[in-house]
Amino acid sequence: GSDKSSSDKTVYKVGTEPTFPPFDTTDEDQNIVGLDMDLIKAIGEDQGFDVEFENLSFDGLIPALKAGNIDIVAAGMNKDDEDRQKEVDFSDSYYESKLFVAVTEDNTTIKSVEDLTPDMKVAAQTGTTGASKVQELKDAGKIKEAVILDGLDTCMMKLINGDVSAVINDKPVTEAYIKKQPDKIKMVGEALNAENYGFAVQKGNAELVEKINNGLKHIKENGTYDKLVDEWFNK
Ligand code: ARG
Repeated sequence: GSDKSSSDKTVYKVGTEPTFPPFDTTDEDQNIVGLDMDLIKAIGEDQGFDVEFENLSFDGLIPALKAGNIDIVAAGMNKDDEDRQKEVDFSDSYYESKLFVAVTEDNTTIKSVEDLTPDMKVAAQTGTTGASKVQELKDAGKIKEAVILDGLDTCMMKLINGDVSAVINDKPVTEAYIKKQPDKIKMVGEALNAENYGFAVQKGNAELVEKINNGLKHIKENGTYDKLVDEWFNK
């Protein structure tokens, strides 16, 4: 319980990449909105800090954090990734997710990752776990080209247009794209991984990690977390 007026509160800059609905997206006025934004806002309300959002490329988020241009990354970022753990510190997990192969709804040949062939192009977003998988497939000679793009919106557009045979992306996000354009995209096969989303802060910023973890715990206990998840997944 802080008595400070809102203008005295610390304002943390929160970076994201907003082509990742329902976690990170934009409204009709191009404001950054989403489950991640509402969660970190609620955590801030609980812990007495304010937030403001910055739109960056996904692969620019960790560099921006390290440079001190932002204080927190809220971007559906997998905290289990060992390379990332060397560079930043993560909060407790706030969401469990999985990578899946997505193809066009009318595709009858690709039923799993095993059905991708050396003549195919497969897309993913730059700097993501999906992009690492696509690059692995390319390095193993299983596909022709790893098409690494800035936005998931572009990845999905290229899939629908037939420019790529598949996209590898997080399941809840691909589901959000399927909702926007029904009967165009489907997911096939088994999950390619399991991941845990965490909020990232500068390495060594134990104080901020603790605030985020405490706030997260409280909003889980008081029902705010469930309410926000429900809201964003039923839009
Ligand atoms: N979960 C994946 C990862 O950690 C993708 C995250 C993409 N997030 C975004 N806001 N575009 O690499």
